[in-house]
Amino acid sequence: MDNRFDTSRDEGATGAKRSGVALTDSAEWRALAGHFRSVEGLTLRALFDADPDRGKALTAEGGGLHLDYSKNRVTRETMRLLMELARARGLEGRRDAMFRGARINVTEDRPVLHVALRSPLGVEILVDGHDVVPDVHAVLEKMAVFADKVRDGSWTGYTGKRIRTVINIGIGGSYLGPEMACQALRPFADPNIAVRFVANIDGEAFRAATADLDPAETLFIVCSKTFTTQETMVNARTARQWCIAGLGSDAAVAAHFVAVSTNTTEVARFGIDPGHMFVFWDWVGGRYSLGSAVGLSVMISVGPARFREMLAGFRDMDEHFQTAALEQNLPVLIGSLGVWYNNFFGMETQAILPYAHGLSRLPAYLEQLQMESNGKHVDLAGRPVTYQTGAIIWGEPGVDAQHSFYQLLHQGTKVVPCDLIGFCRSRASLSGHQDLLMANLLAQAEALAFGRSVAKLAEEGAPSDQIPYRVCEGNRPTNIILAESLTPRTLGALVALYEHVVFTQGVIWGIDSFDQWGVELGKVLARRIVAEMQGAAPEAVHDSSTTALIERYLAMRGG
Ligand code: F6P
Repeated sequence: MDNRFDTSRDEGATGAKRSGVALTDSAEWRALAGHFRSVEGLTLRALFDADPDRGKALTAEGGGLHLDYSKNRVTRETMRLLMELARARGLEGRRDAMFRGARINVTEDRPVLHVALRSPLGVEILVDGHDVVPDVHAVLEKMAVFADKVRDGSWTGYTGKRIRTVINIGIGGSYLGPEMACQALRPFADPNIAVRFVANIDGEAFRAATADLDPAETLFIVCSKTFTTQETMVNARTARQWCIAGLGSDAAVAAHFVAVSTNTTEVARFGIDPGHMFVFWDWVGGRYSLGSAVGLSVMISVGPARFREMLAGFRDMDEHFQTAALEQNLPVLIGSLGVWYNNFFGMETQAILPYAHGLSRLPAYLEQLQMESNGKHVDLAGRPVTYQTGAIIWGEPGVDAQHSFYQLLHQGTKVVPCDLIGFCRSRASLSGHQDLLMANLLAQAEALAFGRSVAKLAEEGAPSDQIPYRVCEGNRPTNIILAESLTPRTLGALVALYEHVVFTQGVIWGIDSFDQWGVELGKVLARRIVAEMQGAAPEAVHDSSTTALIERYLAMRGG
């Protein structure tokens, strides 16, 4: 047997597999399926009427976050059965295995240790007998020294000018987290240093990011776990040319480029001094890497102290996930509810709706986190799954989105479970804004849950011929996540919450949430097609559509 798939090597690696029972054949799954038939017709209105305490009872606290999950289509029995399923699938054992560094990423034979990135010194986490926590802190310290130099102006560019703009060149996990966090923490940012991001290979992205900049005042962070990602490397080479052309010497690169990567060889080959490289490790997945050196742009923007506060928030949620009873455990509750809708109701998508301008990039970040992690078609043993896995994640900030797609949420034929995220204290202190913002969050959740009935509309005097159009059926589920204020610490807790939601669901589905083989094929084909387009490789045999499109593209592109 290929031992990469021998998940039984680690006690905690799988609970269900050891018992040999497939997910949908397990007693816990069957119990949920039977229970589903008895509750699927229940309305949230009826559930609230029958249980006056529900709005207070179906809540939980952790890591500074408050979760109200009462507006979900569940009874207390549903929650009990979901927790039994999570337990039977070995969630606790597998969680503990992750935290102690077991190789739970079975297809890549790696530990999954983003949690080590926020471990305090003194906690030992061993990878191949080596404690990685001191390494994590050494890199954090190196980042802090560098970030402070950029912030206080003692790190200067080639001509001696101080750095005014930092551009992070990276894509996917080497971009979405830092961009989201920089946006979220903008009120804490140093106003003298702008941070920008270039991810897309479309040359317009680089042009737009640099058009108004002086190379003498610009620092590039080339951020790539592998340092081989084609888009990032092409953008990085363009940046180097732009820098050299602007400053007149190859020697300028040393003062204007640093790297974040696991790949020292490729960083050196690119021409970046390994002394200006901030490392992380193959046991940190790209989409889980915000707390690593990948967060360097965030640290430069908000400073090392705020960055460490964000890590403390991650740790708050890690501790909650490790210690709270499953029944009170935020990631477990949200993750299990996601399974309930995905697998029993057949609801395919899940919306993320932050009522905070600062979190406008959170949906994009969570799209990668959740879909790259749990969009899997085989289980840990490589067998095709016979049930649905990862939901389609999407969203936009609340209020803005109310004026675009909420119509479908309220009256469309598809039901979309929604996470609404809000903060009780505004960071903007503009009168009249905050209460209205939060009133909207609460009103939307109320409207989604309870709708507006024919009787109510009639009572309100709606013209009878219009009533069918105006009716909102309600019964549309929401989670509401509240925190006091959007600080570095709450941001860390929120991100860790969703990391562990993904983990919970991956364990229940019995899949590897930490690989991403599906993205490889497109990369390989793109490499081949670009070589053909540029005459560097003989034309390959494609399907007739791809062949015709290449021909059309070349004709329309011209010389
Ligand atoms: O193409 C997907 C992916 O491999 C992601 O998993 C990753 O976050 C991204 O590309 C960028 O990879 P790298 O950091 O190695 O450039």
